Amino acid sequence: MPKTALKHLAIIMDGNGRWAEQRGLNRTKGHEKGAEIIRDITTYCAKHPTVETVTFYAFSTENWKRPKLEVDFLMKLLDRYLQKELSTYQDNNVCFKAIGDLDAFSPKLQQRIALTEEATQNNTDLTHILALNYGGRAEITTAVNSLMKEGKTTVSEEDISSALQTPYSNIDLLVRTSGEERISNFLLWQLSYAEFYFSQTLWPDFNAEELNEIIEDFEQRNRRFGGL
Ligand code: FPP
Repeated sequence: MPKTALKHLAIIMDGNGRWAEQRGLNRTKGHEKGAEIIRDITTYCAKHPTVETVTFYAFSTENWKRPKLEVDFLMKLLDRYLQKELSTYQDNNVCFKAIGDLDAFSPKLQQRIALTEEATQNNTDLTHILALNYGGRAEITTAVNSLMKEGKTTVSEEDISSALQTPYSNIDLLVRTSGEERISNFLLWQLSYAEFYFSQTLWPDFNAEELNEIIEDFEQRNRRFGGL
């Protein structure tokens, strides 16, 4: 019997570049393979009995610093991915949402994101969130500014929580692949009481079997939330 049910899983997908370089391939090949893994993990989560939400860190506010060719490739890949995976979302009853500052993306990509959100909004087995041009500090700052615009002069934790782009959910488990052990400005507020799991596997080699083992490990953890 699990001690703890996993509801919201967050994933930092790391290691695409290294995976490609180890094979003498261009880094973009690692991103392509990485996108396929997102699909596999999403369908696994949609069937999982307790997982309600999975949030993937797909593009951070810092990722713009990469060479233009790689950034352009990631934008095209995202557009292709959303186009191709719409049927995966529909077949698996998955609701798609994007968080982050989407204004920085091309109008075409913004439209694709909006269309995918709209087409899947009534799906209920899983909420699949892609964090795009996302930064945790920026999300909190935007939330506080919007509360000030409403006229608040002091704010409570509840006010901030409800003004975030992911207001409904604390993260239960954060998984980061590739052996790096950092949060990298991901979901800072929502990770307050999360459990962490760092996998040595590079993201393009990650799979549902490994995730299943990680979740089984999580389910045996004793979460005390500061209590005894
Ligand atoms: C980290 O690998 C990965 C990212 C930049 C974000 C994840 C992106 C994908 C899985 C590609 C496609 C995404 C979508 C939604 C279509 P890295 O390049 O930092 O790897 P490295 O640390 O080995 O260089």
